[in-house]
Amino acid sequence: MLRFDDRVAIITGAGHGLGRAHALLLAERGAQVVVNDLGGALDGTGASTGPAAEVVELITKNGGRAVANTDNVATPEGAQALVQTAVDAFGKVDIVVNNAGILRDKSFGKMTVEDFDSVLAVHVRGSYLVSQAAYPLMKEAGHGRIVNTSSPAGLFGNFGQANYSTAKMGLVGLTKTLAIEGARNGIKANAIAPIAWTRMTEALLPAEFEEKFTPERVSALVAYLVHDSCESSGEVFTVGGGRVARVFVAEGPGWKTDDLTPESIAGNWGSVMAEQPYVLTAGDSMKAML
Ligand SMILES: NC(=O)c1ccc[n+]([C@@H]2O[C@H](COP(=O)([O-])OP(=O)(O)OC[C@H]3O[C@@H](n4cnc5c(N)ncnc54)[C@H](O)[C@@H]3O)[C@@H](O)[C@H]2O)c1
Repeated sequence: MLRFDDRVAIITGAGHGLGRAHALLLAERGAQVVVNDLGGALDGTGASTGPAAEVVELITKNGGRAVANTDNVATPEGAQALVQTAVDAFGKVDIVVNNAGILRDKSFGKMTVEDFDSVLAVHVRGSYLVSQAAYPLMKEAGHGRIVNTSSPAGLFGNFGQANYSTAKMGLVGLTKTLAIEGARNGIKANAIAPIAWTRMTEALLPAEFEEKFTPERVSALVAYLVHDSCESSGEVFTVGGGRVARVFVAEGPGWKTDDLTPESIAGNWGSVMAEQPYVLTAGDSMKAML
């Protein structure tokens, strides 16, 4: 059994849904958990201490160790205070699961700057801020595990979610660079793109998904990714309903000529669009252009 004894985990947005399930699983397997949740509505408005406190109570009742934190991950002060909560309660931070999220769905033409900025603030800025606040501690320890929460909507696009998809694909870039920079200090970062039945999706998913797409079926992957034994870093996985799959950003072999014109591109569009063999890194992409 993969256990987390002596590990300290921060889970953001852990008062409901996926984060709650991640917190319960890690605590059940020995981790000391900081349950962060602002306790607001799905659109990010409002705040309440209730959801984080309830999850902590449940963990404690089951014999686990956890503390609540209700800071807003989207502000630098909130992210710092969250990491400080972990240090004050448990002395360190080994694991950060950036899971907090909100929705402001609108079709592209109707989306306001406020809808766009507020969604990016929680998902992208929040993940950046909390990871960065924990980063010096992880560097010092020579060990760290970070999981960011992307979405199939970001990887593949989704109607009415221009703000959310931008944020969720942004997290892929953040994860990949964190993995590259963190490698020399034993810090691994991966991203998940889940599907689960939560308050965020219950109005969108077909009713028959409720039983199959449980948050627990996502938490199992999160637990593996933040375990010491997991070697992967910089990867993205879709996960839901019991299935886990690697998603990779890849470039095709491309088409190259010394006489690149709009017409030669049009005439060789089939080769430009070819998918294999894959190029998987920025370095290999540049080499292929030489
Ligand atoms: N449920 C799905 O199918 C699905 C699919 C793709 C991605 N996701 C992502 O998974 C994550 C969890 O979503 P969920 O489905 O469990 O939804 P949820 O609404 O149940 O949970 C999100 C939690 O984040 C908290 N939160 C929001 N803003 C916060 C802030 N600024 N600071 C701290 N906490 C904050 C909320 O209070 C809430 O408890 C989100 O990032 C979401 O975008 C979910």
